[in-house]
Amino acid sequence: MTSTDNAANAAKPAAKDPWELPDVSGLVVGVLGGTGDQGRGLAYRLARAGQKVIIGSRAAERARTAAEELGLGVEGADNAECARRSDIVIVAVPWDGHAKTLESLREELAGKLVVDCVNPLGFDKQGAYALKPEEGSAAQQAAALLPDSRVTAAFHHLSAVLLQDASVEEIDTDVMVLGEARADTDLVQALAGRIPGMRGVFAGRLRNAHQVESLVANLISVNRRYKAHAGLRVTDV
Ligand SMILES: NC(=O)c1ccc[n+]([C@@H]2O[C@H](COP(=O)([O-])OP(=O)(O)OC[C@H]3O[C@@H](n4cnc5c(N)ncnc54)[C@H](OP(=O)(O)O)[C@@H]3O)[C@@H](O)[C@H]2O)c1
Repeated sequence: MTSTDNAANAAKPAAKDPWELPDVSGLVVGVLGGTGDQGRGLAYRLARAGQKVIIGSRAAERARTAAEELGLGVEGADNAECARRSDIVIVAVPWDGHAKTLESLREELAGKLVVDCVNPLGFDKQGAYALKPEEGSAAQQAAALLPDSRVTAAFHHLSAVLLQDASVEEIDTDVMVLGEARADTDLVQALAGRIPGMRGVFAGRLRNAHQVESLVANLISVNRRYKAHAGLRVTDV
């Protein structure tokens, strides 16, 4: 190696280890639509891992009831208060109510790290199939509706049944995490990693969220055929 090579190497910052993730244990996680299966399951798993969680609902009373049922220090509030009081806000409402919910919470969600896990799906006699939102994906719709928020997408491929089953110790799956800013996707990967068995893997920018959201239609087919609650693993990383 020449002295010029040495100088060039010295000037280059060391490549960051992609598995070096921030500590998110002190952040408050809100779950919009947290009274449903997916939201309740995520709230349960995160609270069980020691995270402070607030369940959101269109009706504060429903959220408080769900929170009491979960215990573990989980609180309930209406969606607006849930968004206001949280650092990270998971969107777990049905696709039908996605745009309207986010439009109404634009102010409360300003500056927040938003994690969209919504899968736009249709169902007919042949089973589940992916819908194609005008914006490209649910996550891109969220980003368009929330220009002042940091929108990411993750937690699409989880089984709400397994999440809510207290006898299941580990959730055996990877979580694909998408977003525009590395600092934000790192935070979401770290959050996924709080749940035993789960690992957050960076999977690209929001323009590639449609495939990730759509893949749930395939997983539903797998689950029906094999009577399973399938997860996903990304190999060689
Ligand atoms: N279930 C799964 O296994 C799973 C896995 C991965 C991702 N997801 C995604 O997570 C989201 C939630 O799934 P889920 O099965 O939990 O759905 P869900 O039970 O049908 O709905 C979740 C909650 O959203 C609220 N909600 C219902 N309709 C709404 C509307 N029109 N506008 C605003 N809020 C509404 C309800 O809470 P309140 O009435 O209390 O407001 C409901 O409890 C979906 O987008 C789904 O694609 C689900």
